[in-house]
Amino acid sequence: MTSDFFQKAIDPKQYDDDRIDWTSEATVDSPFRKFVLEYIRDILSEVTGKRVIDIGAGTGWLVKVLVELEAGSITAVEPSEKGAKFMREQHPSVIVQCATVDTMEHEGFFDIGFMLYVANHLEDLTKSFESLAGVIKQGGIFVITVPDFEYVKKNRLGEAKVESMGDDMFVAAIPREFGTSYDIYRTTETYIKAAEQAGFELVEQTPMVPTEGLMNGYPRFREFKDQSISQMLIFKKL
Ligand SMILES: C[S@@+](CC[C@H](N)C(=O)[O-])C[C@H]1O[C@@H](n2cnc3c(N)ncnc32)[C@H](O)[C@@H]1O
Repeated sequence: MTSDFFQKAIDPKQYDDDRIDWTSEATVDSPFRKFVLEYIRDILSEVTGKRVIDIGAGTGWLVKVLVELEAGSITAVEPSEKGAKFMREQHPSVIVQCATVDTMEHEGFFDIGFMLYVANHLEDLTKSFESLAGVIKQGGIFVITVPDFEYVKKNRLGEAKVESMGDDMFVAAIPREFGTSYDIYRTTETYIKAAEQAGFELVEQTPMVPTEGLMNGYPRFREFKDQSISQMLIFKKL
């Protein structure tokens, strides 16, 4: 069931494309990063002294926060050479693996794992979540954020090219400020089911509605004031 768009969406080197520049997104100064930060704040209050892994860390905005919060050890996994190089330069104390969630090296068990806006690039969710389950300790926490399926379907496809892959999945090429991005959109239930199959239990599901800060930074979000634009899912490793 693969298509050209699907292949582009799962290409782990998509973010090495010269047309994509994520370095402006490397700090928490971006309104979108602050928005995410507000939602993960409670979990961040637990990271001090803990072993933490950030998968698909991009250019490392969250890694920077984890360093500031004095996580006990930090591993960043990022397939883009550009992102991995940038993080190595910026954060020498962090272990950076230039790899995917499926190819990363096992470095022992982590207390907390983050995978923010990455699952929309995964070909086989259960397989990738199993790989993750292999590095999270029993009772450990795993947090993902994903774009909200219904929000994207209703509101973000105006300028996009879309390939449907059934009722609960589609792939879209959406033009953005930094270039076109190819992503797979799945229902929240699909993510939960795959994580459960991989050995996790859902402990929290939070619809992420726009915060004041996000709407001030990007007024276009005002019209979605009470609407979930992303979902945050928190799982516990059984
Ligand atoms: C939308 S960006 C999100 C980056 C960062 N987590 C954030 O929230 O800003 C998606 C990231 O996932 C990475 N990625 C793509 N496929 C991946 C895979 N199979 N395993 C791990 N990371 C992947 C990309 O290189 C990119 O850095």
